[in-house]
Amino acid sequence: MANKAFLHGADYNPEQWIKLKDTVWQEDMRKAKEAGINEMNVGIFSWSFLEPEDGVYDFSWLDEVMDMLHRNGMKAILATPSGSRPPWMAEKYPSVLRMDQERKPYVYGARHNACYSSPDYRRKVTEINTRLAQRYGNHPALYMWHVSNEYNFDCHCPRCQKAFQDWLRARYGTIDNLNDSWWNTFWSHRFTRFEQVESPTTPSFLGEWESPNHNLAWRRFCSDHLIDFFQHEIAPLRQYTPNIPITTNLMHTFPGIDYFALGRHMDVSSWDNYPQWRGDERDVGISAATSFKHDLMRGVCDQKPFLMMESCPGAVNWGAVNTLPPPGTVLYQGLQAIAHGSDSVQYFQFRAGRGGSEQFHGSVLPPDGSTDTRAFREVQEVSTALEKLAPLCASRTCNQVALLYDWHSRWALDYAWMAHRGNQKYEETVQAHHTALTAAGYGVDIIDQLSDLTPYKAVIAPMAYLLRDGFAQRLTDFAAAGGLVYLTYLSGYVDEENLRYASTPPLEALTGLRTDEIDAYTEGHENHFLWQGKQWAIKEMAQLSTPRGAQVLAAYQQQFYQGQPVLTRNLVGEGVCYTLQARAEIDCLTAVLGDLLRQHGIQPLVTDLPQGVIATARYGEDGAEYLFLLNSNREMAQVQLPGCWQRMEDGSLVSGQTELPPFTVTTLLKK
Ligand code: GLA
Ligand code: ZN
Repeated sequence: MANKAFLHGADYNPEQWIKLKDTVWQEDMRKAKEAGINEMNVGIFSWSFLEPEDGVYDFSWLDEVMDMLHRNGMKAILATPSGSRPPWMAEKYPSVLRMDQERKPYVYGARHNACYSSPDYRRKVTEINTRLAQRYGNHPALYMWHVSNEYNFDCHCPRCQKAFQDWLRARYGTIDNLNDSWWNTFWSHRFTRFEQVESPTTPSFLGEWESPNHNLAWRRFCSDHLIDFFQHEIAPLRQYTPNIPITTNLMHTFPGIDYFALGRHMDVSSWDNYPQWRGDERDVGISAATSFKHDLMRGVCDQKPFLMMESCPGAVNWGAVNTLPPPGTVLYQGLQAIAHGSDSVQYFQFRAGRGGSEQFHGSVLPPDGSTDTRAFREVQEVSTALEKLAPLCASRTCNQVALLYDWHSRWALDYAWMAHRGNQKYEETVQAHHTALTAAGYGVDIIDQLSDLTPYKAVIAPMAYLLRDGFAQRLTDFAAAGGLVYLTYLSGYVDEENLRYASTPPLEALTGLRTDEIDAYTEGHENHFLWQGKQWAIKEMAQLSTPRGAQVLAAYQQQFYQGQPVLTRNLVGEGVCYTLQARAEIDCLTAVLGDLLRQHGIQPLVTDLPQGVIATARYGEDGAEYLFLLNSNREMAQVQLPGCWQRMEDGSLVSGQTELPPFTVTTLLKK
């Protein structure tokens, strides 16, 4: 392996083949090398093989696997096995099982379903993780820790209720303070003791489901409790292997965990990427959604290079309909990750098992080990491409535009009784802004309300509904210092505690607007506004505001609020705050955001990109500048390149008008 090399790897479960190890394991190594694989994720679901009985450990097979990987020049990302438990554990320690919303205990089965308050579970996790860290801490193959797998948490057992109450006590101090923060005088819900506060249930269940603040507190608790468990899991790893980086594989916009909060405890972000490519024009939208997820996942660990820990070299098996990805997908998907700052292309999984629910999931090798397959050839193509891109491994992104995605606003909006109740489309709206910014040629960093704003020239903050403590001030300071702020409808409605403001809302000075009302449209109902001589449609949401210093740049054309502001500009110190009052479609957002950013002197990476083409950039420590052009169309596209570039693929020089082949990622080095 060259000094600098991208990880090209896969989840690998050799223990499933232990009875055939003399043949299969050797064959796996040979074929992995043939595929250009240089890394394996091992031990992810191995607990029953590592600890076949309580306190009885067997690491012999993993010793062999680690040695074998090392001998074959491969890195190991070693997992802690807490994603799934052996049956004996549930039998011996029933507290490891979760309880559902109806307070019924689970029975043993499936995975990702442990109670994180269970002292037995915590102890067993510490025991096994300690042994793994002590045993493999100095193993030459050990490259990184893969902690657990796709964490989630929602347990309603008495221990978790107690943990929730303790969390509330720590947050609110007194029950009176909790009552005030939750506005519990409403419907006579004032608690007198923390012990009376139970986890909420979803509608149709018994118990609390309507209180926005009770629900929000539970979401915050679940996220914090999981992060607490994560810290518990990694304590022995930090103790015995302080120099081995730690990751856990994330699920992009998964609502159960504030990934920014979790990311602040990890060394490297990694995530599992499963777009359902179609082979036709729908891939433009799928590619855009995937680009958004990559940028978000990079954002949660401070924009550092991340890993695409899983992706499928064929069709997944868990969809209702599992369509085959067309030829070329593995390469596009892999290079798309690199273009957004990943330092890896990894697959689930290397060799498919003969049984289990994933027996028909796409894999690098089928159970019979055949290599004359489409998947294998496509993985080889990725390997060849990654070798050519090796110089840009570890290079960083450096974008001028930040887009805000904040789990707390998302949660609060999920429980906001107004507009489109239960369906305010926070995620879709932030994603639409991401798609618009990239279509306008900008590289985008995704941040949350606690992130540092100072590296940026513009902060685009759609539906920043809940303002976490200090954010309004930091955003205002950012604008005053010369930044461009862009806000939308449903911004700054509530404070950190999800309460409306009893005095002037903090964004009023920034936006120069008083927000009065919000209108929600049913399907087929539209309004319109004019921008740069074109008429644009408004759908779903329209906010009505009264200028308090802001200039009106565009106004509603219909409804009783015709003539009232849709797009406004407020000058703040050296900078400016724009507010879009209504939900517009992506083309409109592209036009509006592109105009505003350019007027503010913020230049795109490439101008006039055709539909379905985006540009991203990475920068090497040595000053090298790399430009990626992603053509998600199933047709050729043309771009006009700024300056002179060298294609990484073949070393040829390009400038000016350049062709991008269908569904490809082109990587260029600035000359
Ligand atoms: C997830 C899991 C893997 C596997 C894949 C299948 O991402 O982490 O263990 O189940 O899905 O797509
Ligand atoms: Zn529990």
